[in-house]
Order: sequence, then C-alpha cells, then structure tokens
Amino acid sequence: MKKTLVLYRSVYGYTKDYAEMIAEELGCGLREASRMSAGDLAPYDTLIFGGGLYASAINGVNIIRDHFDLLQGKHIAVWATGINAGSPEVMERVWRRNFPEKIQKNIRTFYLRGGFDYGNLSPLHKIMMTGLKWKIKASKNQSEEDAGLLKAYQRPENHCDRRNIAGLVTYVRSLSGITPESSGPAAPGRTPEKSPPHSTEPTA
Ligand SMILES: Cc1cc2nc3c(=O)[nH]c(=O)nc-3n(C[C@H](O)[C@H](O)[C@H](O)COP(=O)(O)O)c2cc1C
Repeated sequence: MKKTLVLYRSVYGYTKDYAEMIAEELGCGLREASRMSAGDLAPYDTLIFGGGLYASAINGVNIIRDHFDLLQGKHIAVWATGINAGSPEVMERVWRRNFPEKIQKNIRTFYLRGGFDYGNLSPLHKIMMTGLKWKIKASKNQSEEDAGLLKAYQRPENHCDRRNIAGLVTYVRSLSGITPESSGPAAPGRTPEKSPPHSTEPTA
C-alpha cells in the first residue's frame, strides 16, 4: 500500500477508537494531530483525518483545510465522529460548514457515529450541552435529530463499531487497487458518486 497515515483529534476517545481500528485494518501509521504540522504530512500519499463534531465543527480539521494547497496530489479522506444519526441532510450541512466547495469536491468524507456520555463531559461542555438541551426543548419544531440528541442526555450511548469503518477502509484500499477481504455495511455519510482521479487537484 502507498504511504498512508491516519490522523485524529479526539476529546472523549470515540474518534480515537475509530482511528485505531482504521490504522490496524490498513496496517498504516497513526498519529494524534494536535502536535503535527503540515510539513509532517509531506511524506504521505494518502491522509485519513478524523475528528469529533463539536457544534457541527470537526475538531482539528484545520490541519487539512488550512493547508490544502500544500497537500496537492495526495488522496485525502476525512471522517467526522458525532452523536447524530448521520442523516444525509445533517451531514451535508456539516461538510458545507467545514469545507469550502473546492475542498469538498476533492476529498472523500465519511461519518462514523461515536458516542455521548453527559455525565463524563467537562464542566464547559456540560454548560454548553445544557444550554442546547433547553434550546431544543423550547423549540416548537423539534427535528428527529433533536429528539435523538435529547435521548442521549438520559443515558450514555456508544455506537463505535468496527463494522462502521468498512466504507472508509474499502475506499482507501481501492486507491492502491487492493481488494477488500471482507465487505461489511458501508459507513453512512457522504460518499461522492465519483472518486476524483487525484483527490486534491483543483476542479475549477
Ligand atoms: C459541546 C459538545 C458539542 C457537540 N456537538 C455535536 C454536534 O454538533 N453534532 C454531533 O453529532 N455531535 C455533537 N457532539 C457529540 C460529540 O461529537 C460526540 O460525543 C463524539 O463522539 C465525540 O468524539 P471525541 O470523543 O472523539 O471527541 C457534541 C458534544 C459536545 C460535548
């Protein structure tokens, strides 16, 4: 396989769990992204970045977004890990919020559902999530997504499952022409119909 690196940022460990599973499955390197610079990414042909969702922002994704021009010619896959159920509408909004169109067209995105444990949150996150809870409760038009989130306040949820990485792993293997050994269910999320021939080439 070409030189591949899994990079991640994780606060409560859910994204980290997925990062470890993906690196193990692909037999490639694994690094926590906070101390890495764009220069550290130069030796790799394929970068796989994952971050937790916080108010719809993908934690740490700026290492890809802000240095996208320096990453020309590399294949880039990004996954987000959140507690939402991963409906196409919600995830479309997440991708739009995190990437300008030029980048969206040249990367592959995946959603790997993580977990949520209100009792384990930091004091700041507890305050933020309590505020959100009251906002949702006061809203007259609660979406399915909102109802799901309210449920997650009541008892811890953990959806991290090795089967969820199948779509991402299959995609990365396909870059090297390696046939996947097994084909589990595809990870939900946005997988463009056509893979860009060179993921980071500008399309405009
Ligand atoms: C302050 C806060 C904001 C969050 N915002 C979102 C969100 O916008 N969408 C979502 O799906 N999950 C959201 N979550 C849930 C986290 O994304 C989820 O717990 C995820 O698994 C965290 O991954 P990590 O532990 O690897 O950072 C939020 C959690 C907290 C504490």
